[in-house]
Amino acid sequence: MSVQPGSGQGHAIDTLFSEERRYAPPPDFARQANAQPDIYSKSFDEFWTDEAQQRVSWFEPFEKLYEWKLPYAKFFLGGKLNICYNCVDRHVEAGAGNKVAYYWEGEPLGERRVVTFEQLQKDVVKLANGLKRLGVKKGTPVGVYMGMVPELAVAMLACARLGAPHNVVFGGFSADSLSGRLNDMECEVLITQDESWRRGKTFPLKAVANEALASAPSVKHCVVFGRTGNPVEMKAGRDVWWDELVTPASDDPASCPCEPLDSEDLLYLLYSSGTTAKPKAIAHTTGGYLVGVATTHHYIFDVKPDSIYWCAADIGWVTGHSYIVYGPLCNQTTGVIYEGTPDYPDRDRWWDIIERYKVDILYTSPTAIRTHMKWGPEHAQKHDLSSLRLLGSVGEPINPEAWIWYREHIGGGKAPVVDTWWQTETGAIMISALPGITTTKPGSATRPFPGVEAAVYNNAGEEVGPGGAGYLVLKKPWPSMLRGFYRDPERYQQTYWSRFPGVYFAGDGARVDEDGYFWLLGRVDDVINVSAHRISTIEIESALVDHPAVAEAAVCGRADATTGQAIVAFVTLKGGAEGSPEMMTTLRDHVAKKIGAIARPANIVFTPELPKTRSGKIMRRLLRDVAEHRPLGDTTTLADAGVVDEIASRGRELLAKGEEE
Ligand code: PRX
Repeated sequence: MSVQPGSGQGHAIDTLFSEERRYAPPPDFARQANAQPDIYSKSFDEFWTDEAQQRVSWFEPFEKLYEWKLPYAKFFLGGKLNICYNCVDRHVEAGAGNKVAYYWEGEPLGERRVVTFEQLQKDVVKLANGLKRLGVKKGTPVGVYMGMVPELAVAMLACARLGAPHNVVFGGFSADSLSGRLNDMECEVLITQDESWRRGKTFPLKAVANEALASAPSVKHCVVFGRTGNPVEMKAGRDVWWDELVTPASDDPASCPCEPLDSEDLLYLLYSSGTTAKPKAIAHTTGGYLVGVATTHHYIFDVKPDSIYWCAADIGWVTGHSYIVYGPLCNQTTGVIYEGTPDYPDRDRWWDIIERYKVDILYTSPTAIRTHMKWGPEHAQKHDLSSLRLLGSVGEPINPEAWIWYREHIGGGKAPVVDTWWQTETGAIMISALPGITTTKPGSATRPFPGVEAAVYNNAGEEVGPGGAGYLVLKKPWPSMLRGFYRDPERYQQTYWSRFPGVYFAGDGARVDEDGYFWLLGRVDDVINVSAHRISTIEIESALVDHPAVAEAAVCGRADATTGQAIVAFVTLKGGAEGSPEMMTTLRDHVAKKIGAIARPANIVFTPELPKTRSGKIMRRLLRDVAEHRPLGDTTTLADAGVVDEIASRGRELLAKGEEE
């Protein structure tokens, strides 16, 4: 049984874990940082008005900062702009055409491309002209299902140029997921590619798309980018090769001017796949979204004109939309795009890329960091990573040990680490350190970004004081917030606005400490209730990962006749080691010592892998099914469905033993 928000008495969540390490910004970093301490002294209105004017070029200025009709916000009312103009054209006009927009590294060794802003502009204009020939215009919904190639960014920008909202579907999803999303938005065009590369093998994007299109009648045209060149089935009258579409098209920007859009025109839908069941169609609009992503990118990542910035996420997730494509390009940043997996052909591939391009800013997820931890630091040690001066993390709470490992082994013990909390819904980072200002604490996302009003509430909807824990809420609208679910206002209202009147409830648990720092505790559905103590999964997981033998851990609750719920831990050991009864005792004692006997796991299941979504989040929902001997729920969003069967069989055995004890 999972704990429902609002059940129980007193504290919403009990917090037990205490982390004492502190890292002040290095003085030379602090001196040159984009964000200086006075950034926190501006008012909400002043901050966002100034940023909107400074970071974005408007065809027509906005008249009003925002309008708030609960639960819908509008920002920069009356403003007209085009995101493609901001991300591409204006940089070329300003003489930066020769600056590199993307260094692209294909997965097969030696396949590289350098895309300048001028080249990007030509590619975008040609594709936009091609799409126009297919009937795409302002308001036409376009689906995109591609791998990590520069053309994916080109496709998004071409849509933005025309004012055609896009719907990017991660290029690893199934035909059903793809057709579901295409049908929901009634896409008229799909842009895809023949195949993509993944861990040395090809993934059949076009074949999957063909299957999806068989049940997506709204799609009239399918544009196919040729990546691997292997033969694929093309349907006459519907399908057209990217090259054939763009070759005759003009690359002159004047031949396809950027459509002036209203601030509140739809930019894209992105279906959050996550750990919940039915995907939510999250809508982002133009002006507020661009201001939000460009501003956060500038200050949090401290990007400079000569930065080589690498966000190692996939463009198919919101992290890629906001921090590979729109934020960095708006700020005229040189980025890296890598096509494949971190272990192809070897486990040092990422570090080779960082050394080659002299990357100074790396942004990745706790899951990726823990994977590198599991593989060991020797792969990074083979390379010169001294160009790195800032590290970022996103996607899940980061365990203090993973944070420290990242700082020490990747950041050379000097690069500040910014743990950034946000969601597909928030569009941009909401809680994060500012690297030249904030003294960081491993495991804490630190403080709300300027112009963001975050708080933690208890069950009764009162703000908890320092040291308290409960539900993370956002009290004021922000420019890049979602503008609802596409065609589903009731679910939007119900999901975020029904728990506490007037504030956005993010679904996450958090603690605020005596310095006002936020510590994210995971999804509230994952909280475990042991003898009336509500314990967050992340704290127990962090205590487990703190043990030197442990690479990764995930915990969940199972029903227990005595304590209400009992803690079950799923643990992956470093270096592929097998578990033993002794290790089980050691780890149970370790958790008891770190956070108290109440948190001692009742059972530990050793497993070589944990079940994760495609974006790297641990699916505790499935672990709960295993722990409670239930049939497994929906596994379609799992990255590797085999993992959960393996865990289920190990779990059944060990849990049966544990329960007999
Ligand atoms: O639970 C939080 C977790 O990821 C959720 C949002 O997931 P998604 O919409 O897929 O977006 C991921 C990329 C922004 C949040 O509700 N989450 C994200 N970042 C953090 C985090 N949890 C703790 N710390 C973070 N830095």
